[in-house]
Formats: sequence, C-alpha cells, structure tokens
Amino acid sequence: MPQPVTEAEEISQIAFGFMASKALFVGLHLDLFTHLADGPKTSAELADIIDTPENRVTTVLTALLTTGIVQKNGDRFSNSPGAENFLVRGAKYDFGDYLRYQIDRQMFPFMNQLEDVVFDRLDDSQIASYEHWMADEAEAHLYSESQHAGSLGPGRTLARMIDFSEDRQLLDVAGGTGGFAIRLCEANPELNVTILDFPNVVSLGEEKASEAGLSDRIQFMGGNALEAQWPAPVDAVLMSYLCSGVPGESIPELLKKAYAALKPGGKVLVHDFMVENDRSGPELAALWQLQHMAFTPDAVSLTPVCWQSILRPPASTPQRSARSSAA
Ligand SMILES: C[S@@+](CC[C@H](N)C(=O)[O-])C[C@H]1O[C@@H](n2cnc3c(N)ncnc32)[C@H](O)[C@@H]1O
Repeated sequence: MPQPVTEAEEISQIAFGFMASKALFVGLHLDLFTHLADGPKTSAELADIIDTPENRVTTVLTALLTTGIVQKNGDRFSNSPGAENFLVRGAKYDFGDYLRYQIDRQMFPFMNQLEDVVFDRLDDSQIASYEHWMADEAEAHLYSESQHAGSLGPGRTLARMIDFSEDRQLLDVAGGTGGFAIRLCEANPELNVTILDFPNVVSLGEEKASEAGLSDRIQFMGGNALEAQWPAPVDAVLMSYLCSGVPGESIPELLKKAYAALKPGGKVLVHDFMVENDRSGPELAALWQLQHMAFTPDAVSLTPVCWQSILRPPASTPQRSARSSAA
C-alpha cells in the first residue's frame, strides 16, 4: 500500500508535478539533451546554440537540475546518465519523440477535459475517441510515429517472454504501425502477422514494415476492431493497449472475437494497464487509465480478478482449450 500523505509539502509535490513534466518536455523541444551530448555547456553557450534569451534557458535548466535530469559542475550543465541514454536524439534507447509528440502534444492537452468528463459535461462531439482522433491523418501519424519508437523495445521483451516458435499466424489487434510485429517476426522466422488498426495508422505501418524488410510477413487491415470482421483462423491473437482505450462494456465482445478467430489450442495475449486487486498500484498503470478516461469516458480500470473472469474462454466453443494470458 502507498504511504498515506501527511504533509502539505507532499500534496504540493503532487499538485505541482505537471511543472516538472513541462520542464522535461520543453527541454526536449529545445533539444537541450542532444546539445549536451557532446559535452557540458554553460547557459550562455546553450542560449547561443538554441538562439533564445539566456534567462529562459537558465530557468529551464534550473528546473531540470532540481529534477535530476541534468547535472551541474561549476557553471556548466551536463546530462544525467538517464538523459544521455533515453533523451538524446539517436541514442540507442532514445524515446524522446514519444515524450515530445504523443505525451506532450497529444496526451497532456486531453487532461484539460478530465473534470468535464468526470462530471459528464461533454457531448459526444467533444470527446475524441481513438476512432475520431485517428481519422485525422496528421494526428494519427504524429501519434503513431512516436508510439512506434516506444513499442520496439517492449516488442523485443515480448519476443523474449512468449514462445511463438510453433505459431505461423498472429493477429495483432490495434497493433499500430507494427512495433511489436516487427520484433516478433525478427525473433520467429516462421511467423506472419496481420495488424488490424485504423486506416491512417496502417498506412504508416506499411512503410515501417517495408523499412524493416518485412512487407511479405506483416499484413495490414484498416478498420475499427469493434466493428470489423477479424481474419481467421490464427494461432494467436495479441491485444496490446486496446482494452484500456475502449468502453469497458466492449471488452468481453473483443475477447469473444479473439476466441472465435483462434485455432484450437491457440493463445490470446492481453498486454495492458492493470492495477492490483486492492487497487494500491502500480501508480503508472492507475494514472494511465485516468489519462485514457480523459478521451474514452467509458473506459475502465481493471484488476487481475476482473481480467481472469473476462479472459475465461467460453465453455461451449471448440476453442475451449485456448490458452490466455494477461500481462
Ligand atoms: C497505445 S497504441 C498501441 C499500439 C500497439 N498495440 C503497441 O502496443 O505498440 C494503441 C493503438 O490502438 C489503436 N486502437 C484503439 N482503438 C482501436 C479500435 N477500436 N480499433 C482498432 N484500433 C484501435 C490505436 O489506433 C493505436 O494504434
């Protein structure tokens, strides 16, 4: 269980947390971490490179210094090890674009409507569901480019965790531009993947699959997973970050479609936000579900117990030997 808050300072730390997020995002937009990658610099030197007034760069760097994202020695600032590994453009584990674009430009503004969502003050036209949002090509590409960068790493982890060596056909529902599919195909030479996602997402996915040299093994299908006919039969169905972004009442329907698409003995994999049964954490899973609720008001925060009952295959279907797992 998290420790109960007792001090005003602890409440302030939570309330003002968005200022630290913004310091990080503006640092990324200014490319500060990339400019610091070739060595420590003073505020004046950075202001010169970025071509902006020195007082503003100093204020941003001071805020970042207090978060530990940058360090200071004398009058020179440098990257922390984390900034060097994860925020410098082109670094092996760089996920700066995911933070710059999807989190700062898209997710952050959605939070402004959270109060109206909770009080049910918005009509449907004011709520940008994934479908509405991805219908805008520029938004879909901004979202998906940055998601792709963020998904290649977890895709590699999934390939290590789950044995797909006997599988020939995987259906990745809401598979985005193929970050997971690319890693799974690289690790499993016999595997082919079909991705079902919105049309503006799959058009970018086709480019990504081609760049990865996997166009012949990764196919795309444009459509809404809640309405489209799913390709079948398949050895496995993956749903990564789909269920947290749809109305809760749609989740059993998605699972029904997944089991119906499976060959006997196939597997269903759900990778998504989930909090402990006592709802005590993990903090980021709880906060991400709140974020999703800001644009999908009927989305729900699920626990392992909820998932176990949803994932149970229907007893009356031939797929009753299907295996399922939630991560
Ligand atoms: C957070 S991204 C995850 C992408 C990929 N599954 C991964 O984990 O890397 C969520 C994806 O779900 C897709 N999505 C959300 N609702 C969907 C729906 N109803 N039908 C198809 N795709 C959907 C979005 O377009 C987006 O590509």
